[in-house]
Amino acid sequence: MDDVEASYAMEQDPDVNRYTNDGGVKTLQQIEEVISTGPLMDYETYGFGRFAIELKKDSKFIGFTGLKFMEDLGRVDLGYRLVKEHWGKGLATESGVASLRFGFEELDLDEIVATILPENLASANVLSKLGFTLEEELTMYGVPQQLFSLQRAAWQTKQPPIHV
Ligand SMILES: CC(C)(COP(=O)(O)OP(=O)(O)OC[C@H]1O[C@@H](n2cnc3c(N)ncnc32)[C@H](O)[C@@H]1OP(=O)(O)O)[C@@H](O)C(=O)NCCC(=O)NCCS
Repeated sequence: MDDVEASYAMEQDPDVNRYTNDGGVKTLQQIEEVISTGPLMDYETYGFGRFAIELKKDSKFIGFTGLKFMEDLGRVDLGYRLVKEHWGKGLATESGVASLRFGFEELDLDEIVATILPENLASANVLSKLGFTLEEELTMYGVPQQLFSLQRAAWQTKQPPIHV
């Protein structure tokens, strides 16, 4: 819950929420609910959930990344979101590599999926760099989306050349 204020600030930026399809700008109270019923509950229920991303130099919160069990899909999803000043530095990819390693090597998952709005080219690029491939175009929550997936076998044979 220490990340509520910084998360709130991130969610005020319409560019951050342009392709997230989760209702856009949120109030402080909504952020508290999202954190407590999202990652905090996921840690207890499934043993994992999305993580905060902090800068190594000063532990400042700059976004989130990580895995979430999606009940409607019955599959584990990779997601990420960063404050705009840290876009374009490879951090979504770097934190994605760490999340995939955690999922495949520590949680022993067989596959990880990710869903994006087709127009979110930056996110599609991140998934491509991480080794995901397009599995299906589908409608979720009333919106056309692309479902990408990555199998553990593919991850083991072709890990991105990024070390974290
Ligand atoms: C998507 C997001 C997490 C990417 O974070 P990031 O740290 O900038 O990503 P990376 O730097 O690791 O990689 C982004 C890649 O996309 C490319 N890219 C960025 N914007 C792009 C655009 N508009 N069109 C095409 N490619 C783009 C970058 O050049 C980079 O590729 P490269 O390494 O080949 O040059 C960030 O933009 C964000 O937080 N967006 C808002 C929230 C969001 O949309 N989350 C994803 C929901 S599915």
